[in-house]
Amino acid sequence: MKKQGVSIGIIGLGTIGTGVARILLKKRGELEARLGFPIVIKRVADRDIRRKRAVRLPLNVFTTSADKVLDDPDIDIVVELAGGIHPAKEIVLRAIKNRKHVVTANKLLLATAGTEIFRAALKNRVEVWFEAAVAGGIPIIKIIREALAGNTVQAIYGIINGTSNYILTKMTDEGVDFAEALKQAQALGYAEADPALDVQGGDSAHKLAILASLAFGVPFSLKKIYTEGITRITPMDIAFASEFGYRIKLLAIAKRTNREIELRVHPTMLPGEYLISGVNGVFNAVYVEGDAVGPTLYYGKGAGDMPTGSAVVSDIVDIARNIRAGAVNRIQGLGAPQGSGLKIKKMDNVRSCYYLRFSVMDKPGVLSRISGILGSHDISIKSVIQKTRKKEKAVPLVMMTHEAREKDMVDALKEINRLSVVSGRAMYIRVESAQT
Ligand code: HSE
Repeated sequence: MKKQGVSIGIIGLGTIGTGVARILLKKRGELEARLGFPIVIKRVADRDIRRKRAVRLPLNVFTTSADKVLDDPDIDIVVELAGGIHPAKEIVLRAIKNRKHVVTANKLLLATAGTEIFRAALKNRVEVWFEAAVAGGIPIIKIIREALAGNTVQAIYGIINGTSNYILTKMTDEGVDFAEALKQAQALGYAEADPALDVQGGDSAHKLAILASLAFGVPFSLKKIYTEGITRITPMDIAFASEFGYRIKLLAIAKRTNREIELRVHPTMLPGEYLISGVNGVFNAVYVEGDAVGPTLYYGKGAGDMPTGSAVVSDIVDIARNIRAGAVNRIQGLGAPQGSGLKIKKMDNVRSCYYLRFSVMDKPGVLSRISGILGSHDISIKSVIQKTRKKEKAVPLVMMTHEAREKDMVDALKEINRLSVVSGRAMYIRVESAQT
């Protein structure tokens, strides 16, 4: 007797879609042996079906109409890889309404419309899986939702934007400037269509919104995530950081403090000896601390056709198994079904150590004026460097502080930036380390 397979329809045959199709075709036998039934690509919809791609599929699966996938009664799983919010949102909601399971890699869509999508899925008794939406090939969704289910998550620290990590690594190791490093990242296909999303922190924020919702049971809260990118980081800051024994990374942070959660994305100085400080190039890493398991760290490729394709295929396999087992909505789509009641902490109240760099006139009394303002805002200085001596000229003055409140730091810097002996705006980078 021929075993009936599970049929999928792919909408969007770009980089990831091609990766997914290549894996499914190449691993057809292996997957069938593992599952006991085949996974069949029934249809592929793309606006441009003539473009040459790195995968060969039978001509009769191609269509330019997403409806041909969404309305095909034989298709069990719709794989949405169109990207963006529209028409991806309409595609996903229609698939759900037509009682099809959905796999998506669309972090932007989930971070902005996740609540509506998961509610619709629950109502229609279908599943929406999204392993590829965060950190590409690292199975971090599965880890948080399933493997760490016995833990209260205390903190997540993620390098979850490969493009920014690639740029910072190039700037650190080769002294390449920001624009040149970005160009290389784009040429390698890591960057989003709008690279501002990568370098200004938006992409990391979308992914953090998803992780925080899963780990802390809070609703998707993209707007409440403090987001700052890497565009202001200079080779000079990278050199000073390394002099203090630190590396600069674009970090997505979700941290539990009492009944509140800190959610923030910003360049962060980390002690060079931390494992996560050694995560370089386009690689991603996510550190998760649970109360039972303690610290854990996951590392892998966060972008690219095959690592991201690997995550999509894993979701297809999971859903296919659930279909066969007659099990639906075994795992909650987002957060905790009851909600956790945790509040998101205001950025003003976040506490951190800081690296500060001022461009100051090299003359007597400057240091005491700056340190006086910092002191009056309850900010204590740990160390100071002023290297070059150029009498009556602007020189960099660098400080590391003890832990201070963000609002106090912002207020103090506003005052310092107004001093006539200070030129330009002060640079400040938050420091995460066990020492305060
Ligand atoms: N632009 C993203 C990155 C791709 O650089 O990480 C994967 O989401």
